[in-house]
Amino acid sequence: MSAQAKTRRKTVKDIAKAKSGDPLVCLTAYDAQMAQILDPHCDILLVGDSLGMVVHGLPSTVGVTMEMMILHGQAVMRGAAQAFVVVDMPFGSYETNSDQAFLNAARIMQETGCQAVKIESGAYAATQIAHMVERGIPVMGHVGLRPQAINVDGGFRAKGRTEDEWARVIAEAVAADEAGAFAIVIEGVAPDLADQITASVFCPTIGIGASAGCDGQILVTNDLLGMTDWVPKFVKKNADLKSVIGSAAETYAAEVKSRAFPGEAQTYKLTKTARS
Ligand code: KIV
Repeated sequence: MSAQAKTRRKTVKDIAKAKSGDPLVCLTAYDAQMAQILDPHCDILLVGDSLGMVVHGLPSTVGVTMEMMILHGQAVMRGAAQAFVVVDMPFGSYETNSDQAFLNAARIMQETGCQAVKIESGAYAATQIAHMVERGIPVMGHVGLRPQAINVDGGFRAKGRTEDEWARVIAEAVAADEAGAFAIVIEGVAPDLADQITASVFCPTIGIGASAGCDGQILVTNDLLGMTDWVPKFVKKNADLKSVIGSAAETYAAEVKSRAFPGEAQTYKLTKTARS
């Protein structure tokens, strides 16, 4: 049995404890190597559709496909041993009706082995959430700034700027909670609004650009690691990997050009023997 198979993986019950316990530590992961590095530190690893922008260079998450989510979900599942792995449902894969949502979510779970899916949950999505949960699929909601809706919103805009919008975000969170979501991501809202949602719902809330009072926090890992030039206000870069990688590549380029690489330490020392 492999070391990974022996490790107990977190379940929805462990995630639910965050409502009265320590905050949930959540990060995005898109490949096996990063999942393996992050796994010991995280309660939840999210295979976010942000991978469309971060990994594939797309302008938004709108162009992300089921195939992309499944491929990256499979990779993350190979690297993560104990974290609860959630895979985002891409734009267009769940909005039509409950049957479409269930069939695509079931495919994601069967083909990746992940523990749950996430959908960006406007009020309409409560029907889909209830349908999936009743049929065995744990669903994470996502309210506030919903990146899949940027074409309606006219860009990535923080939410809750008017009384109507404030009330709508709360209603969307409560609808997802009542439909059975096991957790809800709150993105891009004022701390007061996030705190009000956290107090209004039964399930744990996970903030990104929201409030330290949420039941957990999530960030896009590449932002946390300083791989991206521009990051939103709510990101705290804990490393500067862009410079580290750039300078490693610069040193490599110089050593290749000067023939200092490969050196003695990087070359095989084989002695020729007579032909057998
Ligand atoms: O796609 C994603 O990475 C997300 C998180 C930022 C919450 O939805």
